[in-house]
Formats: sequence, C-alpha cells, structure tokens
Amino acid sequence: MSKLFITCALPYANGPTHLGHLRSTYIPADIYARYNRMKGRDVLFVCATDEHGTPIAVRAEEEGKPPKEVAGRYYQMIKKDLESCDISFDNFSRTTDPIHYEISQNFFLDLYEKGYIYEKTIKQPYCDECDRFLPDRYVEGKCPICGGEGARGDHCEVCGRHLDPIELLEPSCLICKSEPEIRKSNQYFFKLNQFQDDLKEWIEGNENLPPNVKNYTLQWIKEGLKDWILTRDMEWGIPVPLEGAEGKIIYVWGEAFLGYISSAAQWARREKSSWRPYWDDKTVHFIGKDIIYHHAIFWPALLMAYGCKLPYTIVAGEYLSLEGSKMSTSKNWVIWTSDFLEKFESDILRYYLVVNAPLTRDTDFSWDDFQRRVNDELADVLGNFLHRTFTFTNRFFEGKLPETSSFDEYDQKFKERIETLPEVVSQHLENFKFREGLIEIIRLAKYGNKYFNDQEPWKTVKSHPEKAANCLYLCNQLSKTLAVVLTPYLPVKAPEIMKIMNLKSESLKWDDAARFLPAGHPISQPKPLFSKIEDQTINDEKDTLYKNLEESDKMKDQISIEDFAKLNLRVGKIVGAENVKGSDNLLKLIVDIKDKKIQVVAGLARKYSPEEILNQKVIVLANLEPAKLFGIKSEGMILATQENMRILTTEGSIGEKIK
Ligand code: 2FM
Ligand code: ZN
Repeated sequence: MSKLFITCALPYANGPTHLGHLRSTYIPADIYARYNRMKGRDVLFVCATDEHGTPIAVRAEEEGKPPKEVAGRYYQMIKKDLESCDISFDNFSRTTDPIHYEISQNFFLDLYEKGYIYEKTIKQPYCDECDRFLPDRYVEGKCPICGGEGARGDHCEVCGRHLDPIELLEPSCLICKSEPEIRKSNQYFFKLNQFQDDLKEWIEGNENLPPNVKNYTLQWIKEGLKDWILTRDMEWGIPVPLEGAEGKIIYVWGEAFLGYISSAAQWARREKSSWRPYWDDKTVHFIGKDIIYHHAIFWPALLMAYGCKLPYTIVAGEYLSLEGSKMSTSKNWVIWTSDFLEKFESDILRYYLVVNAPLTRDTDFSWDDFQRRVNDELADVLGNFLHRTFTFTNRFFEGKLPETSSFDEYDQKFKERIETLPEVVSQHLENFKFREGLIEIIRLAKYGNKYFNDQEPWKTVKSHPEKAANCLYLCNQLSKTLAVVLTPYLPVKAPEIMKIMNLKSESLKWDDAARFLPAGHPISQPKPLFSKIEDQTINDEKDTLYKNLEESDKMKDQISIEDFAKLNLRVGKIVGAENVKGSDNLLKLIVDIKDKKIQVVAGLARKYSPEEILNQKVIVLANLEPAKLFGIKSEGMILATQENMRILTTEGSIGEKIK
C-alpha cells in the first residue's frame, strides 16, 4: 500500500486560530488526507504547535508568565479549534515535547559535524537596561528600506522585507523602550549559499510544485542566497548542543520544520510503528503563502545537507480577507474559529472556504456571500435534491430503491454523469484543485434537480410508473455517489446522508462511489440536512464584527479617568543640566518638584543647551518606572512636543500637581 506523509504548517502557540488559517492550510490538507485514506492509501497526517521563538517569548513577557505555560494554554485552544473543524490529524504535538528537543539537537549536530554549520562573530543589538541581546521581535524601529514605522528586527510589515536587526532606524527595545547598543556576538550559520544551484535544479525540475511556490522561489534564488543565521542569544528555545555555546538557542525556524518529524515520531512511539516509510514514500506540506521562502528554500536545503528525501510538493494557500479588508488580529478585524463554530456547523464553513475561490488565489470572506452560498447551494441545490429523493422514495416506493426498466436517453445520460463524477473529482483532488472538485459535485446535484423536475415523477408515478421508478432509482444512486465524494469535504454531513441510506460510512471507499446499489435497498425517513441562514443571523454577525472594530479603535485611543489619574504630573524646576557624554541627543537634568529632586535623562539636547534649559519651569511625569539611558538612571519624563521637542512650560508653582 502506498504511504503518504501529510503535514500542516505548525501554528505559533501565541493565539487561537482564525478563518484565514483554516482556509489557507488546515481545511485543504484535511480534505487531501481524507480523500487519500478513502483511496486506500496509508496516510500519516501530523501537525504540532510551534512554541519557541520571539512571538511566544514576547507574549509570555507581556503576561508575566513562563513561556511554556502560555504556549500550553494556546496549544489547548488551537487543538480544540482544529478538532471542532474536524481536521483529522493522526497526531498533534508540541515543539516543547522532549522528543522534539532530541530530534532537533541531533539534526543540528549532524549538520555541524558534516561541516554545513560554522561559527562567525556578528553585530547584534543589545539592551543594556534589560541586560540582553535583542533578537527578532525584541527590537522595533523604522524600516531602513521603506521607512515604515513599527518594523521589527527581522521583518517589516509595511514592505514585507526580511531585515537585519542592526539596520533598523531609531531602534528601541520592545520591553524597556531604551535604545539598544550594538555588541558583538558569536553565532552559528548554515551554509545556505552552497545549496543555491541544487535548490535551483530541484525547483526547476520539479513538476509537482505549484506555480506560486515555483515562481517566488526561483526569483529569490536569482537574487542570490546568503548563508543563514541559525542561532540566537536567548533563553527561550532549544539549546545549541555544542560546547561553548551556552546561552544560545537554535533559531525557531531552524527547528520548527523538525516538528513534522517529531510529531510523526511521537505518533510512531504510541502506535508502535515507524514514520520513516511514510516520509520516504511521499511527503506533502500544506502551508500559507507567507512561509513559502522557508519551506521551499531553507527546509529543502537543510534536508539536502542532512541527506534525505525531499518533499514531493508544497501546497501554499493564499490569503483570506474579511469583508473586503485585510484581516487584523490587533484591530479585531478577524473571525476566530471558536466564535464561528459556536454558531454554525463546521461543514458549512468547510464548504464555503473551499468553494469560495481556488486555493492559489487570495479571496474574501463576506457574510452576505456566505449566506448566499449556504442557502442557494447547500440548502436549495444539494439539500433539496437529497430531501425530495428520499421523501419520494419513502412515500411512493415503500422506502426502497425501485426496480428499473429500460432507460431512455435522458436516464442514460444522467447515469453516465453519475458514473464519471468520482473520477472527475478524483483528478482534481490529486492535483490539489479542491474547489474545482467541489464545483463538479454541486454541478451534478444541480443537474439531478433538473432531471427530477423534467421527469416529473409525481405525475408519472401514476401514468408511467416505470418512468418514475427509473428516475428515483437514479436519483438515489446519485445521492449515494454524492455522499461518498463529499466525505472529504463534509465529513459530518456526508455520513448523515449515508445513514439515511443505510450505508456504513466507514466501509465506503472512494472507488465504491460509482458502484450502483441494488433495487430493493432500503432508505430511511430523511431529516433536512442543511437549513437556511436567516437575514437576521447575518446582520447580527456583521454588527458584532463592526462593533469589535469600533471597540478596538476606542481601546487604542481612549483611556479612562482612572488611567489618567495614575499619572503623577507635577510642575518642576530644572535645577541642574548637563550633556550626556557620548550622546548628541540626551541631557541629564535634575528637576526640583518640591518634596524631592529627581534625575531625568531627556532627549532634548538637539533643541536646548544645558544653559537654555536651566531654571525653566516644566511639566514632569514624576512616577515613571525608572530606566537607564546610556547607563544613567532616569526617574521621570519632561513633557515636550514630539516633532519640535519644545518643552511645555508653566507659571504654576513648583511641586503643584497637574490634573
Ligand atoms: O509562520 C508560522 O506560523 C510558523 N509557526 C510556521 C512553522 S511551519 C514549520 F516550519 F513547521
Ligand atoms: Zn519596510
């Protein structure tokens, strides 16, 4: 039996999943896994949560909790989300599992021993205040390429470029906001450049890779591949397994891929089986398009260095927007899986996210379009066809498939279309054309409705009973075929159809789909399979969505009176002022606020000399958490305009509180 190793990109354990994740990765992968199981292939379908890296470390720091605890919470949430969407993983593990550490460290060591990993001293931002290096997301600033605000050490959201943290303009430490210095540090690099030609050959010669993966990748290879930094100075992560590398961890992207293997290894241990034959037969990775670079360049190069089989293909799903605008979790412009599935059945979500657009195209989730498709296609076309077929069979044929007599041309044509449907859908699924397969299914259900209408069995059952019998026999047959080919798409509804038809869903294989049932096969009383969604329901959902957005806007701009009251703003007099050595920007000031004198390091030197600012009465925030700037303690903040750095002066008396 042929074997198949199927993976989904590992979600970061720093938040729950939303419809974008389901659309680009998990639903297509699950359809593919279920289809292949029905084809009789031996499938190993695995995933895990990606629990290292700065996204989780930062989140944990914000919450004041250990990263593993935070990740564990999201692991549970994500697992539940994916289960409630019926994603049929054979195993869903965590990259904090000991088996993952072992596999990742061994992999790293293997490459090191083979000479593909080497050590080099580089410059890295270092925060003196926090006393640590600032990898990736720990440093923020302006993008050196496009000038975009809020760029992180490794990536600019505005222009999408990969960045080097020391190139960031106006950098600041994410945690304490102070300006980092540049320090030297030893890191380990992977000889990516050495694989440039082999990668090019693999990509160009691989007919299975979809065009979006191929095109992007070849373009990057053409620009030239630089060696890749594979380690970080950070606490949270998998320690580099080398002597003298204390305090260093393997970069999250240097070990996350191995989550595919460690999840499979965990499965193998539990099942007393072996994962390797699956990998060696055929491996398919499902990912979102934002990580094509990682999967089509880093990962195959690592595998080449290790010396094992490369994946058969990489399927990269494009993005989902929401009501015409880019999804944003920070603005709450998003639909979370758990919220959605509290109100709607998972199968109708799976249906909509697949039928909406081909996986290789960006598309939009719109509540109106969702309602239209569910009501028109699932309820009116599919549901109606099945319901009238089963009801009619029960009413006029004692709930049994009638005997047939010779088919007319129309019957014959209908019969042929039923017989060919499974193969047509199969061809699409083999080629990862999930939408195209589904469209064929709905098209035939539509045709079934037309056939039923044209044959008018409610009339012929009296005038030409053999004609009505042929019609109902074939309509029942189509119902069975639909139930089988819909199983990968609608894993809950399809077995319900089979149950009405007294068929055992577990034993039905794909190749049984076109096998005709015998006359006399019993059918049970149906219940409606798909209900329509009311306008009111959709309007409520839209209201909630827009309300969320307003609230998140409000939350960003507005603070409560209690929040304001926390600020200890006082009138202060500058009684001491000097330049900070080595800085063009900073002044060291002593501010008298009557009950005490505080020291403030302020970024005002470009505007004021120490003489100019001395004796000024200013407004000072006196209860700011102390921080160190240039190694000098700063206990407050002088209020000034941001652009022109003009201090706010006052006639109030020293020490007076500002309300
Ligand atoms: O981009 C992401 O969400 C990553 N957590 C994906 C990792 S996939 C793989 F490498 F395991
Ligand atoms: Zn940029």
